[in-house]
Amino acid sequence: MSTVGEELDWAREKFQPLSDTPYLDAQVLLSHVMEVPRSWLLAHPEARVLPEFETAFRRDAARYRRGEALPYILGWWEFYGRRFRVTPEVLIPRPETELLVEIGLERLWSISQSPQVLDVGTGSGCIAISLAAERSEACVVAVDISLGALRVAQENARWHGVSDRVHILQADLTAPLSGRFDLLCANLPYIPSGRLHDLKVGRREPHLALDGGPKGVGAIRRLLATARLLMKSKGRILLEISPEQHQGVLAYVDRETPLSLVKVHQDLAGHDRLIELGVGGQGA
Ligand SMILES: C[S@@+](CC[C@H](N)C(=O)[O-])C[C@H]1O[C@@H](n2cnc3c(N)ncnc32)[C@H](O)[C@@H]1O
Repeated sequence: MSTVGEELDWAREKFQPLSDTPYLDAQVLLSHVMEVPRSWLLAHPEARVLPEFETAFRRDAARYRRGEALPYILGWWEFYGRRFRVTPEVLIPRPETELLVEIGLERLWSISQSPQVLDVGTGSGCIAISLAAERSEACVVAVDISLGALRVAQENARWHGVSDRVHILQADLTAPLSGRFDLLCANLPYIPSGRLHDLKVGRREPHLALDGGPKGVGAIRRLLATARLLMKSKGRILLEISPEQHQGVLAYVDRETPLSLVKVHQDLAGHDRLIELGVGGQGA
């Protein structure tokens, strides 16, 4: 029987060429298999790993070495302090998207009545469900074009006890929707099609979640073209973007829509990550 320390050292060496964080990834995987906290593994390198755990760990490590993303192997990933189920049909929630939830919540606090929120391209539901879980009076409509993603979002909404306030629908952007929202959130695909195949994410995560068309802003522009019709007069739109797209998106907003810029928010790395728009005449 091998020890925890030996298994971790073995995996660290094997994962080295694949990851910037091979030791951390090895710990996350072994703690998942053994159902113990990572801190326990670090405190007990001499502990014996039972043969069934070793078999499961080696099997998961083989998937990892074949290029599968760690969250898909685990079946979950953490976002805004909660665990979300993830499958290869949804984008793995990213830490930079937590900025959208943070700003979204700030905006919702200024609304006293039950705020109405729309999340376009909900994927795992991480944005919609985090907002609903943090703001118990919020009513959220979450749409996605992918049925596979919607099934995962539904499961997450149930798991977090918000399925009565998060209404999950299949839609091509906002096509079938009516009503007026206080907040529209969207983290739509924003990678230019031509770049997808060169990127690791393009080989691991669903193209529907990543492919933003020839210039990467196809879905974003389509959404902005009609978004105004769904917004209350003081509503806000929060759009996650790739930093190099922000000038282009703002020029489009200015030229083609009645929306106005409120603020461009930066992520923790200092990149322009989130565009906040108002509905006419509210620009900063
Ligand atoms: C970048 S992922 C974001 C997922 C999730 N909101 C997040 O932040 O982790 C984009 C999502 O938009 C969805 N999507 C792509 N095109 C769409 C469209 N035309 N209408 C609705 N959803 C779309 C994809 O299926 C995918 O789930």
